[in-house]
Amino acid sequence: MDATVESGRVKIHPLPVRIVHWINLLAVLAMLFSGWRIYNAAPVFDFKFPAELTLGGWLGGALLWHFAAMWLLFVNGLFYLAWGVLSGHFKRKLLPLSAGAALGDVLLALKGKLGHDDLSVYNAAQRGAYAGAIAILIALVVSGIAIWKPVQLHELAALMGGYEGARLLHFFAMAALLLFIAVHIAMVALVPRTFLAMLTGRARRTS
Ligand code: HEM
Repeated sequence: MDATVESGRVKIHPLPVRIVHWINLLAVLAMLFSGWRIYNAAPVFDFKFPAELTLGGWLGGALLWHFAAMWLLFVNGLFYLAWGVLSGHFKRKLLPLSAGAALGDVLLALKGKLGHDDLSVYNAAQRGAYAGAIAILIALVVSGIAIWKPVQLHELAALMGGYEGARLLHFFAMAALLLFIAVHIAMVALVPRTFLAMLTGRARRTS
């Protein structure tokens, strides 16, 4: 049982989830902003990201940031995946996944009728969004590795339609992650006590 009661406060997020979550945020931000600088050096599409929103100063500096943050994201993510499976966290918090139930919850949320009283349980829309974010991050790492070593790992790149295909996948996965982050932050802003719970691990019981 995840939720243990101590002095009227319920345990919501175990320490490993909180540490991994905030390290992940730092790594993702560094990867995004340095990635935009790398993109600007050879844009795939007919636009560039504003230089003020990029990290690294120049292509070489951005590549150093991107690879450094990549290792942080990779090791942190690997630990989260292993811990999530072995501790039963994914089974307990993210399963079952159902597109129909997720859509139903999104419709309820749009009508303002989706409650989030018990912070220890994710609704179907959250479960889908979090599992989706994890899948997007995996796609980003795998396509990024294929772009990094397209000759040595040409079989991996071929699975994505070659170097150009891997580049497109990397770009669209970045865009999907950005969409997730925007919706995620909007949802947290709507229920601010979830933010405190992700910091302290606990929340006051509402029932
Ligand atoms: C400022 C940025 C962010 C804030 C304020 C934030 C906040 C939160 C909060 C409050 C929760 C718990 C939601 C709840 O209990 O209802 C959560 C969970 C989660 N967040 Fe974020 N988050 C941020 C960025 C990110 C990013 C960048 C990612 C991934 C790319 C991410 C992925 C997740 C995942 C996967 C969970 C579920 C964790 C689990 O229980 O295993 N978050 N976040």
